[in-house]
Amino acid sequence: MSKPDPHRPGREFVSRTPPAVPPIYLSTTFELDDTSYADIQGAGGLHETWYSRFNNPTVHAAAAEVARLHQAEGSLMTSSGMAAISTTLLALLRSGDTLLASRQVYGDTDDLFVRDLPALGINVVRVDAFDTTAWERAVSEHQPSVLYGETLSNPQLRLLDIPAVAALARGVGARLVIDNTFATPFCTRPLQLGADVVVESVTKFLAGHSDVIAGAVTFDDRELGEEIQRRLITFGGCLDAHAAFLAWRGMRTFTVRLAESCRSASAIAEAMVGEPGVVHVRHPARPDHPDAGALMDAVMPGPRGAMLSLVLEGGDERSLHVLRRLKVALEATSLGGVETLASVPFNSSHFNMTLQQRRDAGIPDGLIRLSIGLEGAGVIAADLRQAMA
Ligand SMILES: Cc1ncc(COP(=O)(O)O)c(C=O)c1O
Repeated sequence: MSKPDPHRPGREFVSRTPPAVPPIYLSTTFELDDTSYADIQGAGGLHETWYSRFNNPTVHAAAAEVARLHQAEGSLMTSSGMAAISTTLLALLRSGDTLLASRQVYGDTDDLFVRDLPALGINVVRVDAFDTTAWERAVSEHQPSVLYGETLSNPQLRLLDIPAVAALARGVGARLVIDNTFATPFCTRPLQLGADVVVESVTKFLAGHSDVIAGAVTFDDRELGEEIQRRLITFGGCLDAHAAFLAWRGMRTFTVRLAESCRSASAIAEAMVGEPGVVHVRHPARPDHPDAGALMDAVMPGPRGAMLSLVLEGGDERSLHVLRRLKVALEATSLGGVETLASVPFNSSHFNMTLQQRRDAGIPDGLIRLSIGLEGAGVIAADLRQAMA
C-alpha cells in the first residue's frame, strides 16, 4: 500500500503482491513523472502508461496474450476487428499507393476497399485469392506497396497460399497483411509463413464467448508495430479496459476451446457426408477439400479450424427452413463463440450479392455456415439431422 492521499482516498489500495488476474484499470489518466515526460517528449508517449488511449495495463494484458498465441514480438488491441484492419491499412498506405487485395474478403473490408480507400487516393487492385498466378501477374504489373488476404475465405473455406503470396510481396518490397480471424493462431500463425502483419477480429474465436467486440494487430517488427500504434492513437480505435479484460479472460481458455471445436467440426463434417439431403460438406480436414495436400499442410499443419459449410438440396429457402428448425445451434451471424452458430450467407453475410454473384464467388445456393462451439459433435450432428428430417 502506498502512502494515503487525503484528497484522493482509495488510490493507495493496490495489492502489495501481484494479483492472479490483471486488474481492470479504468483510469483514463496516470500520474506523470520524469520517466513519462521523457517518453512523451522522446517517443511521442508510445511506451509509458500516462493516458489510456496510448497505453493501458489491462489492454496490454490482452495484447500480450494475443502475441503469445502467435509467438510474435508484439500485438496491439483495437476496439473491433474492423478498427484493426482500417488502422493497419491507413498506417501502411499513402495516396497514390497501390493495395493488391483478395477479391474474397469480409463484407465490411470489401466496403473499405471499394468505397473508402479509393476516396483517399489509394489505388485498389483485386485478384482471385486462390489463383497464385494471378497474384504474381498483378504484383509485377501494379507494383503494390501492400498485399492483403484472408487465411480462410468466408464461407467457401478456401485457403490462401500465404507462403507464395509472402514471397511475391518480399520480391517488390511490399508488406503482406493477413486477416486470420477464421483460422486463428491455433491453426495458422501467418507471421511464421512470411506475413508482416496479422489482423484479427478478437470478437470471434480469440475472445470466444460472443460477449465482446475487439480486434488485434500482431507483428514481429517493432518499428512497424509503432507505425501502426501511432495511427491507433490518432484515429482513436483503442480498446476499452472492460472489453480488454473480457478478451483477456476469453483467451485464457483459447487453446482448449479451439482444440475441442476443431475436433468437433471435423467429426461433424465426417458425420454429414452422405446424409440424405446434404449435397456437399466443406471443411479443411476433408480429403475432398480443394486445397487438400501440400498447401493445406503448409498453412494449416495441425487442426483444421472450427468453421464448417454444408450445402443442402433445395437451395437457400430450404436451408433457411432447416436453420429455423435447429434446437441447439443458434441462428445467428458471427462466429467463434462457445455456442454453435448457424447462418445462411444469402440473407446475412452476403446479402448484398445477387444469386449469380454468389455463385461466381463459389457460394452455392443452399449453403449453411456453421461455427462449431462446445456442445459436442454428437449433439450438433443430431441437431442437424432432426432439423433436416
Ligand atoms: C474475417 C473477418 N474479419 C473481420 C471482421 C470484423 O470484425 P469485428 O466485427 O470485430 O469488427 C469479421 C467480422 O465478422 C470477419 O468475419
